[in-house]
Amino acid sequence: MVSNDGKLYLKKVKGKVRDLERAIDFGEIKGAGIGHTRWATHGKPTVTNAHPHTDCTESIVLVHNGIIENYEELREELASKGHVFKSDTDTEVIVHLIEDFLKEGLEKFEAVVAAMRKVDGAYAVGVIFKDEPNAIYAARRGSPLIIGVGEAENFIASDIPAVLNYTRRVVVLNDFEIAKITPDEVVVKSIFGDFVNYKVLEIQWSAQMAEKGGYPHYMLKEIHEQPSAIMDTMRGRIKDGEVFLPELDELLGEELPSRIYIVACGTSYHAGLVGKYAIEKLAKIPVEVDIASEFRYRDVVWDDRGMALLISQSGETADTLAAMHMIQRAGLKTVAVVNVLGSTMSRDADVALYTRAGPEISVASTKAFTSQLTVLYLFALWLAAKSDPRGTEVLKNILSGLAFVPQLVDTVLTAEEKIAFMAEKFASFSHFMYLGRGINWPVAMEGALKLKEISYIHAEAYPAGEMKHGPIALVDDKMPVFAIATKSRVYEKMINNIEEVLSREGRLIALISQDDRRLMNKVQDVIVMPEVAEIFSPVVNVVALQLFAYYCAIERGLDPDRPRNLAKSVTVE
Ligand code: F6R
Repeated sequence: MVSNDGKLYLKKVKGKVRDLERAIDFGEIKGAGIGHTRWATHGKPTVTNAHPHTDCTESIVLVHNGIIENYEELREELASKGHVFKSDTDTEVIVHLIEDFLKEGLEKFEAVVAAMRKVDGAYAVGVIFKDEPNAIYAARRGSPLIIGVGEAENFIASDIPAVLNYTRRVVVLNDFEIAKITPDEVVVKSIFGDFVNYKVLEIQWSAQMAEKGGYPHYMLKEIHEQPSAIMDTMRGRIKDGEVFLPELDELLGEELPSRIYIVACGTSYHAGLVGKYAIEKLAKIPVEVDIASEFRYRDVVWDDRGMALLISQSGETADTLAAMHMIQRAGLKTVAVVNVLGSTMSRDADVALYTRAGPEISVASTKAFTSQLTVLYLFALWLAAKSDPRGTEVLKNILSGLAFVPQLVDTVLTAEEKIAFMAEKFASFSHFMYLGRGINWPVAMEGALKLKEISYIHAEAYPAGEMKHGPIALVDDKMPVFAIATKSRVYEKMINNIEEVLSREGRLIALISQDDRRLMNKVQDVIVMPEVAEIFSPVVNVVALQLFAYYCAIERGLDPDRPRNLAKSVTVE
């Protein structure tokens, strides 16, 4: 929607952003504009329910990301005052509320502030008034919203990469803040109506960093960025064979936690599972890992001397955020392992341990995952050094292995062609089983998730020892099994599981270690991984699984950057 010559030009489309682009012809844009891609929560994905929404007089337009929880009562109240609703969305109540406050005689800014005071739930909102064509009002609570500060032009967006082509100067709006943005000015008020001083951040990412850099898809570019993302994540945190995490020194002092709660969603949850293996092995501290949407609704038995790690690429995932706030209410310290600078989680946690993966644009998470693993290894080694200073020499050795990981990831990337060939061979199957054991079981889960989300092939992941307890019944020549069988303490056990699959005429692909003649002789389709310490093998192995999923999607003619039904930041429950 744009505001031109005192008129509002509005266009809505169901489907892809590309379809909207084709449908738009606003001519020369003289005033402000707003747009939003809706991810349906209340009301079907239809043109009527698409944003922007308008008030009764069609002179206020609004876009909203989030969920308004008290929308039913607000809708009833507004309807009883004569407001007519056009959509089934929760969003529409906000625009009618603003209209109502204007009618009561409030100024525009005050009307927006007053409306935001009445709504419960999560929102990032953009509002334009017909008779003020050069201004956008923006409000935030619980959903991400940033303001890009340009030269005689300003922007609002859900995240920083969206504005990098225009400016690197960014204001991150806080929860319960409302801004008025004109081409030359940004004014911020709190929900109580007081003026707020804000900071303008200088973003170091180049615009090019946020583009595809010559790759056909962001996902492939981001897979290839992993060696440098891992390196950046380690940078400055390893000195003289020791891990330096001063933020944690300050937070935890000398007292180590007696239990660690790790909470996350999706790929970040898989990173948490790997983290559990690493922390328990190195630091000998018990770790519980939970999916955030489960954690927040279970009866957690708190260990008062425990602490929590929240893992999130975006730092905006609604369930992880809610879990973090619940943990804080229980009085435990929280550390966010997060990628996005200035995200809600990074600001609300006691400490943010940043992964330095740079902007991750592709919906499927890749470099954020391996950077999360890197932070978790550093954290485990940091804890281990604190809990047993006598083991320093051993830890130094392990740490030197971590420093070597980016090079090993590079080696896996050189196998891209072979993996693409394997994908060509297997992409027509409709079902897959991923098997792993120990620290590579979460990697099997991550491999299966990648395949599902971008190639739409059904994939299940199992710890290989569970096969006999049910899933082996599925194995036949129509359901290939992807076995992660690199050298480890459970290598012999994996071989047994591979034998079980082969004896049932199952099709197998195996990730194996360099020079593993035994498996090379047994399994026809193998992908050879470089030699790596077992503890770091997840970082190396997962890269092959990411490439496999990517090329399966390509084989099936799909766009891996835009998987159906998925959003990059899941800012609603
Ligand atoms: C899968 C993927 C998702 C996210 C999940 C959590 O490729 O990207 O499973 O990992 O939605 O997101 P963050 O890490 O932003 O909290």
